Amino acid sequence: MTNTTTDQPMTNTQRLMELEERYGAHNYHPLPVVLRRGKGIYVWDVEDKRYFDFLSSYSAVNQGHCHPRIVKALKDQADQLCLTSRAFYSEPFCEYEKFMHDFFGYDRVLPMNTGAEGVETSLKLARRWGAVKKHIPNEKIKVICCEGNFHGRTVTVITMSNDPSSYADYGPLTPGFIRIPYNDTKALEVALNKYGDEVCAFIAEPIQGEAGVFVPDDGYLKRCYDLCHQHNVLFIADEVQTGIARTGRMICCEHDGVRPDILVLGKALGGGVLPVSACLADDDIMLNIRPGEHGSTFGGFPLAARVAMEALRVVRDEHLVENADRMGRIFREEIKKIESPFIVEVRGRGLLNAIVTKPIGDKTAWDICLRMKDKGLLAKPTHDDIIRFAPPLCINEQELREAIQIIKDTFEEMSR
Ligand SMILES: Cc1ncc(COP(=O)(O)O)c(C=O)c1O
Repeated sequence: MTNTTTDQPMTNTQRLMELEERYGAHNYHPLPVVLRRGKGIYVWDVEDKRYFDFLSSYSAVNQGHCHPRIVKALKDQADQLCLTSRAFYSEPFCEYEKFMHDFFGYDRVLPMNTGAEGVETSLKLARRWGAVKKHIPNEKIKVICCEGNFHGRTVTVITMSNDPSSYADYGPLTPGFIRIPYNDTKALEVALNKYGDEVCAFIAEPIQGEAGVFVPDDGYLKRCYDLCHQHNVLFIADEVQTGIARTGRMICCEHDGVRPDILVLGKALGGGVLPVSACLADDDIMLNIRPGEHGSTFGGFPLAARVAMEALRVVRDEHLVENADRMGRIFREEIKKIESPFIVEVRGRGLLNAIVTKPIGDKTAWDICLRMKDKGLLAKPTHDDIIRFAPPLCINEQELREAIQIIKDTFEEMSR
């Protein structure tokens, strides 16, 4: 096959990208790199070029690519029993339920697969609690959410979004949501004073990842939690991206000393190998859903249960919480030293960080990411001008400083 514009033989990369262009839905805009393998903090493309992975599959690969312990757990379980559905008990899932209770300190776990399903489940739990425990008439039940949120892609979940690229032309959307500005406790107070009797829950990301790693003020989450409790409203934390050590705490809400009423986890719960999500809550909330009233064929399947337990043990045994905290401080300190007209702001927590850029001439964040790719580091812009930096949490200081040098060199070259 030849490249029609250059008449040169196609590279492997071009050939594979053409297949996606021709046969795949066009619902993503990937960087032009085709990956073949990964190990730890690195990935290799089909031409065998090595890159630092500074996206980690949107924080789903916190433990590093193909972690040997997690892959072993997957393989061992795959030889035993992969799928049972919840029509029967399975040994791994029963053990997983107890494990999650011990690890996170909630009475119960409700297993799902993707992050969006986890969020959807948290909304069902909250609405059910609102109907049964708070006695809100069903047609009046409301959930308060935040501007700039990203909670996933199902119809109910995109209803919460104020980004037209998420919700436009997918209507009719789901009723029962009130949206308020993020990082604005006054707005929450006003909404609760006005609608509190009809509100079952407030849902928020402790840091808005997709919005561009928007970190709220210290104390914001605690104040929201307290306001919710004054109004008998549940506080749901969507920690799908921020959870499992990413921000230098096991869950990001710990920065503010908050224990959410419903905790939604996903991404790194699957150890970078399987989609595994979960809602965690106590009896008063969880036991309002009875047999047959919610579920998922794959939710909590034996492979997922074994993988998730090993994924969490790895986080604990390899001290990834502490490492994310320490490496994150070094990252921000060093990146803030870069002098470049492209850079507007550097922000983040732990190893969830971003550089807010502004375009110079016709050069944008996308061009910066292409240049970093050429130099061996993969990161991706969100909202056109914000570049997120989220490497696997097993990165060590020497590797981090090497990656920082690539970022520095890139900004310096682009600024010339
Ligand atoms: C905070 C948050 N919630 C939910 C989701 C949706 O997760 P998934 O893509 O697994 O459905 C994401 C994905 O980026 C997310 O960042």
